[in-house]
Amino acid sequence: MQEHIFVLTGAGVSAESGLGTFRDKKGEGIWQKFDPMKLATPEAFARDPESVLAFYDARRRNLINAKPNAAHFALARLERALASRGGRLTLVTQNIDDLHERAGSKEVIHMHGELLKARCQRCGAVRFWPDDIKPSYVCPHCGSAGSLRPHVVWFGEMPLSMDEIDQALRLADLFVAIGTSGAVYPAAGFVAEARAYGVPTFEINLEAADNAYCFDEARYGPASETVPAWVEELVGG
Ligand code: OAD
Ligand code: ZN
Repeated sequence: MQEHIFVLTGAGVSAESGLGTFRDKKGEGIWQKFDPMKLATPEAFARDPESVLAFYDARRRNLINAKPNAAHFALARLERALASRGGRLTLVTQNIDDLHERAGSKEVIHMHGELLKARCQRCGAVRFWPDDIKPSYVCPHCGSAGSLRPHVVWFGEMPLSMDEIDQALRLADLFVAIGTSGAVYPAAGFVAEARAYGVPTFEINLEAADNAYCFDEARYGPASETVPAWVEELVGG
């Protein structure tokens, strides 16, 4: 069994928990219904903070009512099993939800930020924030008004923890992408980086991602079935 597995998750892992994906064939994805340029850029926030904050408030309320599914639980099991035999799981998620943590994963790298945290644009302080954010709110850390925003990465901004991610990719024995369309960089490029480092690559997805041709192997189906089955094969028995 591989000792260090690098898993990248996307919206497909949380789809069966009722949190929408961004792009789908039926045109019902979040970015097919809402224009990301009006809701998920620093410019949109500067122009129309009410609309941007209201969009994330609605997503935060959905999240609080959602529950982790079997795919999240299986990845938490994989983390424990690898650790118990001296190995390691690097779990990098593009998801801003906390369902991996609620399923028991201890170490999760949220490269696109976290919906349940707020960040002050003035002083940079990040804190747990499960409630709505209003444009009039004052930063509890520095006292400035109107500077709080969701701690999420918007288009045009740099994803988080990129150095840590690159180091983990370099050292992995296996790279697995789960429930991600391979449409958004830099995450979509991790598979090519892994290959360049000589790491075998595996896709688990509902259907082939845009970058499916980059993977050595693939398995298709709903994450709540494919992920537990794969983890059972690796660590069961
Ligand atoms: P997408 O919505 O682009 O892709 C979701 C993927 O999940 C697709 O490949 C689907 O086939 C797959 N999928 C859907 N339901 C599934 C299920 N039940 N089981 C397994 N797979 C399923 O989501 P991401 O690739 O995560 O970034 O999107 C990447 C980034 O684009 C997001 O993090 C977000 C967005 O813009 C930011 O907001 C910065
Ligand atoms: Zn502040």
